[in-house]
Amino acid sequence: MAHNTNSLPGEYFTSPVIHNDELSNIFYRRWLCVGRADRVAKSGDYFLQTIGSESVIVVRDQAGKVNAFFNLCRHRGTRICTEETGAFSKSIQCPYHAWTYGLDGKLIGVPDGHDMEGLDKATLGLHKVAIQEWQGFLFINLSRNPGPLLDSIGSLAGRVERWGLPNLKIAGQIVYDVAANWKLVVENYNECYHCPIIHPQLNERSNYRSGVNDLNQGVVLGGYMMLAEGAESMSLEGGYCAPPLDNIDVDDLSRVYYYSIFPNMMLSLHPDYVMFHTLWPQGPERTQIVCEWLFSPEAMSAPDFSPAGAISFWDETNRQDWHVCELSQMGVRSIAYQPGPYHFWHESLLAEFDQQVLNALGHTSPGAD
Ligand code: FES
Ligand SMILES: [Fe+2]
Repeated sequence: MAHNTNSLPGEYFTSPVIHNDELSNIFYRRWLCVGRADRVAKSGDYFLQTIGSESVIVVRDQAGKVNAFFNLCRHRGTRICTEETGAFSKSIQCPYHAWTYGLDGKLIGVPDGHDMEGLDKATLGLHKVAIQEWQGFLFINLSRNPGPLLDSIGSLAGRVERWGLPNLKIAGQIVYDVAANWKLVVENYNECYHCPIIHPQLNERSNYRSGVNDLNQGVVLGGYMMLAEGAESMSLEGGYCAPPLDNIDVDDLSRVYYYSIFPNMMLSLHPDYVMFHTLWPQGPERTQIVCEWLFSPEAMSAPDFSPAGAISFWDETNRQDWHVCELSQMGVRSIAYQPGPYHFWHESLLAEFDQQVLNALGHTSPGAD
């Protein structure tokens, strides 16, 4: 596949029109990671996820199944739920005229409904959003005809199971508000050309030239970097924050794997823990980033357990990254900006990621409609 080997034109980072096209063709159509299934641990537990101008309710029903619905009433369209997270007792009620839905989305109550002849409740359930669980992560898809989730994460098969992801639990979460286009964040994640300059501390733990990309085409991109002599993991002191995860290979002990999963997830697998980011565009020039750290429940139950070394190491690294993404955003919106050449191998994944974006938008070359 012939790749554009320059960075994208400025309009891809600033234009509200392209941003809306990305929402329609990418964020309202592809599988998006919305975090871990244990966010809705018990029946009734729910959270809301905003995607562009859409709001989705993710809720565990009484049968234990996780469902997702567009957050609007079938009566006159009112936004039903505004509390970001919480628990429904047994039903979801619209605040306007109190139409009531089961946790499975079925319309179960219409005040004075007996006066509405021919009202067919069976056809007026909440609009469903496709939802699937993979390795303990929930993925939603807003499309009416979602493609298989496997198309999004299939190339990770056989690569991540040894971390025992379904078992891991959240030990920390930080939410960031970044003044940069979401693509700058993914592009930055996919190269370590910047590491010696932006992350002296990270570069000490893992040399920027030690990376090997094992997935360099398609919707999942990434590979691993070698931990430096004397570094056990990515943490403040360079030691483990927990014993290495049970089933990883010997080779994994000296590596950290970094994968971006198109469009909104970045998954980083360490010997002793897993970190992941989800990205939520707030406009062409703003992105909300949720970063979470996962550890094994056994490690977390140890009396001296602390994830602080991993969290503060990456929090500092994250902030360094977001800062340089914000500097990029300021530059690419300049009238003087022109696409610049990607480094042949340091930045090869960026060219592929950009191509995925262009493909999704139906642009045969950057800027072409
Ligand atoms: S709009 Fe929801 S009950 Fe009327
Ligand atoms: Fe970085």
